[in-house]
Amino acid sequence: MARVRVQDLVKLYGPLRAVDGVSLAVEEGEFFALLGPSGCGKTTTLRCIAGLERPSQGEIIIGEQPVTSLPAYERPCGMVFQSYALFPHLSVFDNVAYGLRARLYRQGGPLTKAAILGSFLSRRAFPLDAALRERVREALHLVGLDGQEGKAPGQLSGGMQQRVALARALVTEPAVLLLDEPLSNLDRKLRVSMRGTIRKIQQALRITAIYVTHDQEEALSLADRLAIMDRGRIVQLGTPAEIYDRPATPFVADFIGAENLFPARAIRSGPDLTLVEAGDLTFRAAGQPKAERVRAVVRPQAIRLARPEEPLAADNLFRGEVRFGAYLGATARYEVAVKNLVFVVDVPDPRPGALYTPGDQVQLGFAAESVLLVEEA
Ligand SMILES: Nc1ncnc2c1ncn2[C@@H]1O[C@H](COP(=O)(O)OP(=O)(O)OP(=O)(O)O)[C@@H](O)[C@H]1O
Ligand SMILES: [Mg+2]
Repeated sequence: MARVRVQDLVKLYGPLRAVDGVSLAVEEGEFFALLGPSGCGKTTTLRCIAGLERPSQGEIIIGEQPVTSLPAYERPCGMVFQSYALFPHLSVFDNVAYGLRARLYRQGGPLTKAAILGSFLSRRAFPLDAALRERVREALHLVGLDGQEGKAPGQLSGGMQQRVALARALVTEPAVLLLDEPLSNLDRKLRVSMRGTIRKIQQALRITAIYVTHDQEEALSLADRLAIMDRGRIVQLGTPAEIYDRPATPFVADFIGAENLFPARAIRSGPDLTLVEAGDLTFRAAGQPKAERVRAVVRPQAIRLARPEEPLAADNLFRGEVRFGAYLGATARYEVAVKNLVFVVDVPDPRPGALYTPGDQVQLGFAAESVLLVEEA
């Protein structure tokens, strides 16, 4: 467990500034996510922290120790890759034991080094003492892989292989766990359950974790805090709620999965009220933006629907037509056209008998407080 500080990190690939001045501080025991679109520099940032890339500029400090010039194996980090990166010819046990043997090799005298190298070259496992064997079993137990020691990675499912990779990263008891899109190759159901596993293990060990993903739902649901990256820079850093409720820029609002993100003009501001023109609609929003050009965001779950004859009260009330509907079990999602705008609406706990169908005329209402105004940069 240790604090991680990244100061003014720059990584150049020729003329490309893959990481362009990233600074962040991850607290001890914190689960921190780096979120952003493909190519924004997440992996490069993580690899610089791990010591797998050499920064062009900047400083990395783990605990109290500057590690910028240390090789990867001298940093107290365990890393999990998207591709698992397991050794196919080694058993599950020996894959997990790899880091322990590598450490014995580094710390051993010439005889130990020769013995480990010899067994590696002849593909025999160098024997570990009872305490280290127990460490491997504990790591496998932690990820729920008891009894799988003797199998080859190829005999395991993708999810189980990723658990082996996680055990391998944890077995050396690193202070910092670095994960680069570890769940991207798994199907959705498995992703969600593995998310829970990773979070529980991180909390049980109280290990500092930095988790790279381009999946906003994953970042929001896992992280204590996250940084959103765009083109090598951090554009917003905060808790999931801060970022979801107050996206700093239209890019963040868009990336964080805002449906109903309408380009708009704030046309008149009272002390606590703004009239917003979006498309052919005018509606009320709480608060006062500093700029006239804004994006108005209305969350799908903040919108109420009712049939034309049903009572519905809201600051903003419109008539519309259902264009599309999908029953998703816990919610139903609709697209409702109101003049020239289409609103995405999530209805919680839909009763299967009372669903809307395309072509239905409806009322659509939302509160002024639920309209978020994001200023254009
Ligand atoms: N070894 C390299 N040589 C040259 N360019 C590289 C190298 N590694 C990464 N890049 C470039 O640096 C930029 C950032 O890459 P990086 O892999 O950090 O992005 P990412 O945010 O992890 O994206 P993804 O979500 O696709 O994994 C990209 O434009 C990429 O093409
Ligand atoms: Mg990447």
